[in-house]
Amino acid sequence: MNILIIGGGGREHTIAWKLAQSPNCGKLFVAPGNAGTHEIATNLAIGINDFTEIKKAILSNDIQMVIVGPEDPLVNGIHNFFLKDKQLKDVIVVGPQKDAAKLEGSKEFAKEFMKAHNIPTAQYDSFTAETVEEGCRFLDTMNPPYVLKADGLAAGKGVLILQDLVDAKDELRQMLVGQKFGEASQKVVIEEFLDGIELSCFVLTDGKNYLTLPMAKDYKRIGEGDTGLNTGGMGAISPVPFASDAFMKKIEERIIKPTLVGFQKSNLPFQGFVFIGLIKVGEDPFVIEYNVRMGDPETEVVFPRVQNDWVDLFKAVGTQSLDQHQLKVDPRTAATIMAVSGGYPEAYEKGKTITGFESVVNSEVFHAGTQVDKDLVKTSGGRVLAVTSFGKDHKEALSKSYEALQKIDFEGMYYRKDLGFDL
Ligand code: AMP
Ligand code: GLY
Repeated sequence: MNILIIGGGGREHTIAWKLAQSPNCGKLFVAPGNAGTHEIATNLAIGINDFTEIKKAILSNDIQMVIVGPEDPLVNGIHNFFLKDKQLKDVIVVGPQKDAAKLEGSKEFAKEFMKAHNIPTAQYDSFTAETVEEGCRFLDTMNPPYVLKADGLAAGKGVLILQDLVDAKDELRQMLVGQKFGEASQKVVIEEFLDGIELSCFVLTDGKNYLTLPMAKDYKRIGEGDTGLNTGGMGAISPVPFASDAFMKKIEERIIKPTLVGFQKSNLPFQGFVFIGLIKVGEDPFVIEYNVRMGDPETEVVFPRVQNDWVDLFKAVGTQSLDQHQLKVDPRTAATIMAVSGGYPEAYEKGKTITGFESVVNSEVFHAGTQVDKDLVKTSGGRVLAVTSFGKDHKEALSKSYEALQKIDFEGMYYRKDLGFDL
């Protein structure tokens, strides 16, 4: 079976790496891909939202399965585009339809969904430019810190957490009236602050059945000790030491099952990955957010641990037969560390030559922002590569990744050296 993966980050390289190991994988394509996917698949120079060009590539390469990596094409309705097209309707698409992708595309929609299906989450209300003064009065009734969330997709920058009431009101006005995040902040969700430790839960569903993938913990801040600006993610580990069996049972009963039943009741067609961002408050799980795709860099630790044939799993998503599969999970801990361009997540330079790949032996290097340029591998993004290793615990896995990172070099390379500090 010929397969296309849409996207070009570490997540997509990891998915490609797994699929390429399957005897059931025919020709493998990635659009647009990166220097890592170039080694194991055919990169297609097509934008992730260019559905017309994607269709041409599907037909000319006889592709029967599409895995959608990032949220954007899903929120834009790529799955529906396939279903509506006579020539594409039988292609398996892993990724939810547009109505379901709204769970990531709109924070208000996600909160309403959780409220409707009794899924534990922070108390909230939402406001628009017309109701900005009501929003300020709502803030008066809350305790600091104040959590303000732009409703729409804002490239991970749309959440503000403020200690001071005056600042919170000022930011609320800037978001709603000053359009701080453009269209994404036409609506703002204000919610109760939850104090706890975060973890990521991933579920693969065919719309009827589901498999809960290994849990992961991601490190989002650029600075050591979880300080500084938010990034796409600076590293991840799986499993999560504090996700005990008792805690997992609560996640399953209070969150995963009601979410999947909620999809049916609310008529949200979901075939793909549900990424549930959780926070553990005391001994109880709460949902911070839903994403409608795998996480990055969580994929770089979750996928290596799952030993199943991923072509079979994705086929089962398309034929609604996931109930016939059981996950085989590597019991060891996987850790990944992201190396980023100097300056990221603010301005950074691109086009730096990366060296040392050939010296890495005990770890897997997944490419994120890289491209091939005249036989050299050069940086092309903020997050450049993720180095994944296995160990008996997170300390051993991390130390192998640190060892590997010492062999890799590019000008301005930075990575956090304290991952796992909070465990
Ligand atoms: P989100 O984009 O909704 O995942 O939010 C980004 C980050 O903001 C999360 O990963 C949390 O660290 C933090 N955050 C969001 N909502 C809350 C909340 N209600 N309480 C505490 N922290 C939050
Ligand atoms: N690592 C967080 C995300 O993929 O959104």
